[in-house]
Amino acid sequence: PVGAVTVQQLGGRIGARIDGVRLGGDLSEATLATIRQALLRHKVVFFRGQDHLDEAGHQAFAETFGPLTSAHPTVNTGSGRVFKVTADKGMAANAWHTDVTFVDRVPAISVLRAVHLPPYGGNTVWANTVAAYDALPAPLKALVDDLWAVHTNSYDYAQRDEDSEEPDANYTRADFASQLFETEHPVVRVHPETGERSLVLGHFVKGFSGFNSAESIALFTLLQNRITRLENTIRWAWQPGDLAVWDNRATQHYAVADFGTEYREMARITVAGDVPVSIDG
Ligand code: SIN
Repeated sequence: PVGAVTVQQLGGRIGARIDGVRLGGDLSEATLATIRQALLRHKVVFFRGQDHLDEAGHQAFAETFGPLTSAHPTVNTGSGRVFKVTADKGMAANAWHTDVTFVDRVPAISVLRAVHLPPYGGNTVWANTVAAYDALPAPLKALVDDLWAVHTNSYDYAQRDEDSEEPDANYTRADFASQLFETEHPVVRVHPETGERSLVLGHFVKGFSGFNSAESIALFTLLQNRITRLENTIRWAWQPGDLAVWDNRATQHYAVADFGTEYREMARITVAGDVPVSIDG
């Protein structure tokens, strides 16, 4: 049995730790409401000591947030919902991104479980894209409020893997669909649950509509630097049994690839989301 559910804020702008919950698919309405509120407020929430969770338990908990997406739109993982994130051979998520922004309906929530951790390093860092928008100076807000960006998976795992001489340990080339996604999203989206405005950018952005590539790079760098400034982030040092849930509509994240050839394996399940809506509706 576990005691009262507690939510402890960890950072000034993002991150909270939730204790007193044994995660699974059978949580009470009150506990689910506490978790959901904490997630919407703190953008990423962390649970420790969830060693009892296997793939099925992980999935049952993720389903409490809503219908799930397939494991990944371009990586063939069979019919399962679990995307295995490994970073031993070019499968690194060590670039600031929001998960899968190159599709129309960007996943709403991601649920990540530590499966195998390296003996050192391998932290993940999250940034709050709502706070980043809020902190923009007014002239920059005016610019981004009306701006659209093209997101593509041409920078996604399959392409990254082409740099590597060897096939990935977990996914062979045949596992990658060749489908190229290019999707336009507003740079500022209105969060469907909180009404907050957040910046939709990250690693999958190819450019801004109406701007050439040099201009896009300059503008992208300016905005990304705003998102990833350290005051706007929280860094999590994983322990066995940890699980993180983040609001993919209000965050970016970065998996720090500082563990050499050590093995690191995470399991990610994503909850389906909406087409991002601009401030003009
Ligand atoms: C991800 O990018 O979704 C995975 C992050 C991680 O492996 O820490």
